[in-house]
Amino acid sequence: MTHSRRPSGPALAPILLAALLGGAARAAEIVGGRAAEPHSRPYMVSLQRRGFPGGHFCGGTLIHPRFVLTAAHCLRDMNPLLVSVVLGVHDLQASEPTQQRFSVARLFENNYDPEENLNDVLLLQLDRPATLNDQVAVAQLPEQNQVVPQDTRCLAMGWGRLGTREPLPRVLQELNVTVVTFLCRPHNLCTFVPRRRAGICFGDSGGPLICNGVLQGVDSFVIRACATTHHPDFFARVSLYVDWIRSVLAGAEGAGPQRRHQMEAEVSET
Ligand SMILES: *[C@@H]1O[C@H](CO)[C@@H](O)[C@H](O)[C@H]1NC(C)=O
Repeated sequence: MTHSRRPSGPALAPILLAALLGGAARAAEIVGGRAAEPHSRPYMVSLQRRGFPGGHFCGGTLIHPRFVLTAAHCLRDMNPLLVSVVLGVHDLQASEPTQQRFSVARLFENNYDPEENLNDVLLLQLDRPATLNDQVAVAQLPEQNQVVPQDTRCLAMGWGRLGTREPLPRVLQELNVTVVTFLCRPHNLCTFVPRRRAGICFGDSGGPLICNGVLQGVDSFVIRACATTHHPDFFARVSLYVDWIRSVLAGAEGAGPQRRHQMEAEVSET
C-alpha cells in the first residue's frame, strides 16, 4: 500500500494534477525486479491481514527480536489487532515451516504527518520475541544522521505489485536501485533506476531499503504511479530516527522511563 501521494511544494503541483486526472503509466514489473534467493533477506517482514490467507498489505524490517520497523501509513486505517506480523517468509502462498507469526502488542509513532508524508515510520512491538535463526534475523541500523551520498547503490525489496495495475507476486522480489537527490526532500531518501521502468509499488510500503548492508530507508510513497521513469521513489530516511528507535527499544526493555518524547499508543479494541 505505498501511498501514491506527492511531496509538498509548489513545483510539484502539476504532478499531483496529473495524478488526479488518473494518468497512470503502464508499468512493466516490486516493478522490474527479480525473485530473491529464498530467505536471503532474513530481516524482511510481511504484514498481513489476520484471517486472509496471504493477506499481505505492507512490508517491514525486523530490527530487534521484539520490534519491527514499518511505515506509519501502513496501519493508519487499520485495527492493529487484525494485523499479523510474519517473519521467515519467501512465498506468500506456501505454508513454509520457516514462518513465525506474531501479533502487535504496541505501536510507537514519531510525529507522523500524513498530509505531508513526513516521518512515515512506525515501530511495532511484537507480542513475544522472535526466534532468531538462518531465516529470521535483525537488520543493522545506521548511525544517527548518517549521510547516504548520491549514487550509492542499494537494494529495495518487497511483495508489492509487479506494476500499478498488476497483482502481487508470490515470492519476495528485489531490485537494485541508486540513491538520487532530484525532486527529493531532506526527510526522505530517494532512489531511481535509470533507463528502464523499475521501482517500488503498492504493497512494498514499510519494507527496507538496504545500502551497504545497513537499513537506510523505509518504503514510503511513489509519485503518480509505480516505476514512472520520471520520478524517484521515496523512502523515510532511517538515520533521522535512530536515537528515537534506540530509546523505544531501551524503554521496552525496562531500562527506565524514556518514553517522554514519542507518541505511544496502547493497542485497544475498537
Ligand atoms: C545488483 O547489485 C549487486 C551489488 O552491487 C551486484 O553484484 C549485482 O550484479 C546487481 N544485479 C543486477 C541485476 O544489476
